[in-house]
Amino acid sequence: MVDLISYVKRMPTNGETLEAPEFSIGCGGKGANQAVAAAKYGSKVMMVTKVGDDIFADNTIKNFNYYNIDTTFVERVKNVSSGVAPIFVDPSGQNRILIIKGANQYLTPNDIDKASENLKTCKFIILQLEINLDTVYYVIKFASENGIPVLLNPAPANAMLNIEKINKCDFLVPNETELESMTKMPTITNKDIENAAMSLVKKGIRNVIVTMGSRGSMWVTKKGVHTLKAFHVKSIDSSGAGDAFIGCFSSCYVKNNDVLEAMHEASAFAALSVMKKGTQKSYPSKSDIDVFLKKYKE
Ligand code: RIB
Ligand code: NA
Repeated sequence: MVDLISYVKRMPTNGETLEAPEFSIGCGGKGANQAVAAAKYGSKVMMVTKVGDDIFADNTIKNFNYYNIDTTFVERVKNVSSGVAPIFVDPSGQNRILIIKGANQYLTPNDIDKASENLKTCKFIILQLEINLDTVYYVIKFASENGIPVLLNPAPANAMLNIEKINKCDFLVPNETELESMTKMPTITNKDIENAAMSLVKKGIRNVIVTMGSRGSMWVTKKGVHTLKAFHVKSIDSSGAGDAFIGCFSSCYVKNNDVLEAMHEASAFAALSVMKKGTQKSYPSKSDIDVFLKKYKE
């Protein structure tokens, strides 16, 4: 996805034309953002996706190359647009995002078969819902058959998502809105969130980690609940912060198999990202995080 970000004073109402102070364009897309975050944290990353037949596609591939992300399985689709995301960010740093999937919806189980030998060498797979659900289900089955841990970020929320078909994923990482959509339960208070996440654990999902913005993150398993506070920073633009968390979490978890440690690093990574404008371009480096965490302790 390419992000078309408008910084607005407020949203226009019906029929209204409203001037906004600033615009910026950048590489985005949930999967790509997560891939870049994992690469910046130090992982070797391979991306499996589709791009369109336009300048956005060239740019996206160039961007992956810049971060040393393997693009062997990033395929171009003729006569189709790349995915784009018009994003609106208000003065408090909150975002509203529209997505047009474009080429992303052409990624099929057949493409996964084509990439399967390389996928089998991966230590971890991350999935989002910006591709078709059938492909998502297929990858979860593939990963579980091959003993590869898989994390699903059920974003954007999709009412058609079938929980029975994803309950073999090792980690499910929704935000509050996505959790509400999956469970049809309220997700206002921390207790609500805990109950909703627990209902998914009861359906067989081993680890549910809910990202809750400035309220932090919550890890729910059969054994219990851990809540981690967020770092208090001034938010300028929170778009892509959930992806920052997921990419960093995955990379750190692969390294040390410690969920709480990975959540802690991921919170720092996401906190640093909201202090800057943009999605991927606001992501910190591993050394930025080390400096930030050291300062925070003092
Ligand atoms: O999660 C943020 C991302 O969602 C943006 O980069 C946008 O491309 C959409 O996919
Ligand atoms: Na940001």
